[in-house]
Amino acid sequence: MVLIDGKALAAKMQADLAEKTARLEAETGQVPGLVVILVGENPASQVYVRNKERSALAAGFRSQVVRVAESISEAELLDMIANYNADDSWHGILVQLPLPTHIDEEKVLLAIAPEKDVDGFHPMNMGKLWSGHAVMIPSTPAGIMEMFKEYKIDLAGKKAVVIGRSNIVGKPMAQLLMDANATVTIAHSRTEHLAEVARQADILVVAIGRAKFVTKEFVKEGAVVIDVGMNRDENGKLCGDVDFADIEAHASYITPVPGGVGPMTITMLMEQTFRACESSLKK
Ligand code: GUN
Repeated sequence: MVLIDGKALAAKMQADLAEKTARLEAETGQVPGLVVILVGENPASQVYVRNKERSALAAGFRSQVVRVAESISEAELLDMIANYNADDSWHGILVQLPLPTHIDEEKVLLAIAPEKDVDGFHPMNMGKLWSGHAVMIPSTPAGIMEMFKEYKIDLAGKKAVVIGRSNIVGKPMAQLLMDANATVTIAHSRTEHLAEVARQADILVVAIGRAKFVTKEFVKEGAVVIDVGMNRDENGKLCGDVDFADIEAHASYITPVPGGVGPMTITMLMEQTFRACESSLKK
């Protein structure tokens, strides 16, 4: 079994990115700028946002985190986004999800200018990805594709099963795997005989959001297992959606939690922000 070291790959990519950013600044006087808007005080979101800021600064970007009270109105939030849309010095705008229930998430995602939507959640960007003309790719599946590339994991003709159908992970993951010529099944919490379906997979990507849900009954001998989960186990320890100890002997490659998909996600967001900046300079 090979452990896929997302932390090491992310660190390598971050170092490359810092170099590219320094070069861009020397050539154009510009550096990528990323705005992250955090509404309220969701503890997990606070951690994610802090990590994004740290990563942006380490890459040499301009970084701004806008922390607003949970009570902000939808109109005020939309106004704020419109202002950042109009400001050329910001190349990426990201609104951390989830949002409080009085704010319509779809309206907010629609309000972000597609060329600044570094999360790739705007319907325009989702549609472009789905029609094979991707511009912005959601960072979690983008990071997983980088890991396949780094570890030379061949996808063409392989059977891939994605457990999870979210817009953030499951759907774009399925599309990217299809683009890489895998045969893809999207399964989810309501799939009948889920373990049996998963057991068909050469490549199994798990994003179901339940601690240690995937056990050896789900894993074919020699499968590649990618764990997108980020949960706390019964002892409060970080764990994925995969029961690592249970499947370890069955899989050929596994991503650990922590240190697998998570660090890659943030690095890909920075890559995307860099590309958004480059594109804006070409205009
Ligand atoms: N909440 C959980 N994951 C994400 C993400 O990738 N982007 C944003 N904006 N919010 C999230």
